[in-house]
Amino acid sequence: MSSITTPTTGGFSGANRYAIFVSLMAALAGLLFGLDIGVISGALPFIARHFTLNDRVQEWVVSSMMVGAAVGALGSGWLSWHLGRRSTLGLAALLFIGGSIWCALAPSPEQLIFARLLLGVAVGVASFTAPLYLSEIAPRHVRGAMISTYQLMITVGILAAFLSNIGLSYIADWRWMLGVIAIPAMVFLLGVVALPDSPRWLLQRNRTQEARAILQRLCDDPAEVETEMRDIEEQSKQPKQGWSLLMANSNFRRSVLLGAVLQIFQQLTGINVVMYYAPRIFALAGFATHEQQLWATVIVGLVNVLATFGAIAMVDRWGRKPILYAGCAVMAVGMGALAVLLHQGIDGTVVQMTAVASLLLFIAGFAVSAGPLVWILCSEIQPQQGRDFGIAVSTFVNWAANIVVAATFLSLLSAIGESHTFFLYAILNVVFGVVVLLYVPETRGVSLETLGRNLMSGKRLRDLGRNR
Ligand code: BGC
Repeated sequence: MSSITTPTTGGFSGANRYAIFVSLMAALAGLLFGLDIGVISGALPFIARHFTLNDRVQEWVVSSMMVGAAVGALGSGWLSWHLGRRSTLGLAALLFIGGSIWCALAPSPEQLIFARLLLGVAVGVASFTAPLYLSEIAPRHVRGAMISTYQLMITVGILAAFLSNIGLSYIADWRWMLGVIAIPAMVFLLGVVALPDSPRWLLQRNRTQEARAILQRLCDDPAEVETEMRDIEEQSKQPKQGWSLLMANSNFRRSVLLGAVLQIFQQLTGINVVMYYAPRIFALAGFATHEQQLWATVIVGLVNVLATFGAIAMVDRWGRKPILYAGCAVMAVGMGALAVLLHQGIDGTVVQMTAVASLLLFIAGFAVSAGPLVWILCSEIQPQQGRDFGIAVSTFVNWAANIVVAATFLSLLSAIGESHTFFLYAILNVVFGVVVLLYVPETRGVSLETLGRNLMSGKRLRDLGRNR
């Protein structure tokens, strides 16, 4: 929500505490997203041994979740419009619980693949609905920080999964590792019950009284509640549209395209190459034992979490674009340094440590910038009348690009070699910086309504956040 408190007041007070509680609960969706991304790399060797799986079936066990996520993201625009954001999050929670328990009990590889597909649908629905809901409920001047909380939860989930992978390597019980995710999913379900519906969604359904009551809980100042109501009502008069708006309106096509491009570049940074193949990359960097590789991977997860705090602290102060420029530069340097070291050959402790430092530099660069900011921008740039559709498309593209990057990394390694592969990612990060310069608007402190109005009046994408 915009203008709950004046930006000059800074911190959180009064009703804003309620907004923070709401954001934390919704951001639990990110935790489940992260757990499900992170857990499989550690569980897979045990699953493979248990069912004696060949490489192909193993690939399916891994990627079925991403396919499900892409499908879930596509369907969730419709769901969150018809059921409301809160009920859609509740549905995702139920799917997380069901999917995790089914994974744990799966008697055959086929069932495990279907269970991961179902879990993927939950991840897709949650990764669409949570940032959308957060962008609609968060006070304008802390909107960036609130949506970053969602990304923080993703990183905490990934770290927790990496840690449990180490535990798993001692007790060797993959069923528990997959099944235990049902517990945070239940906490999430309880949290969702306590959440209010998005005032924007309620107003679009003409449920004015309920919307006002929720705004009043989120905001101490009655005058501001009324300004907010008027602002949203004005935007809500336009009917909700998806495909038809896309076909008819070139301004909307621009924001949908920008959302998709941002998500593609987020994946082309190479982040998930590191997330999925970190132990392998550490093996290339000279870490010989499996245990060393797993611990080094935990450090990756830890840096990912810590640097995300940096994003939360900076995003509403510095603005989106400066952080993205800095992040792209750092990621390019990290990947570039790794490419050079791999080219020269990693021999000796000093070079080995420099390689690790380069990888961690890359992760830190991603976690303060592209990680949270792409999700923030994607939920901000879509106009009210096409927001659900626009975010559904960008979330789908995130998962589709994720699958492509994960599926091509190993082939790239064997086709052009390790050093050239990392060099390619370094260049893609530079291109990302140029895309930000040319097309990304600065949205810090700007209400969603202003951004939507500017887009629909034909303003250049990079000027959407300007008032004149
Ligand atoms: C990305 C994921 C990635 C995660 C890592 C998210 O923003 O969308 O693909 O695995 O960050 O922290």
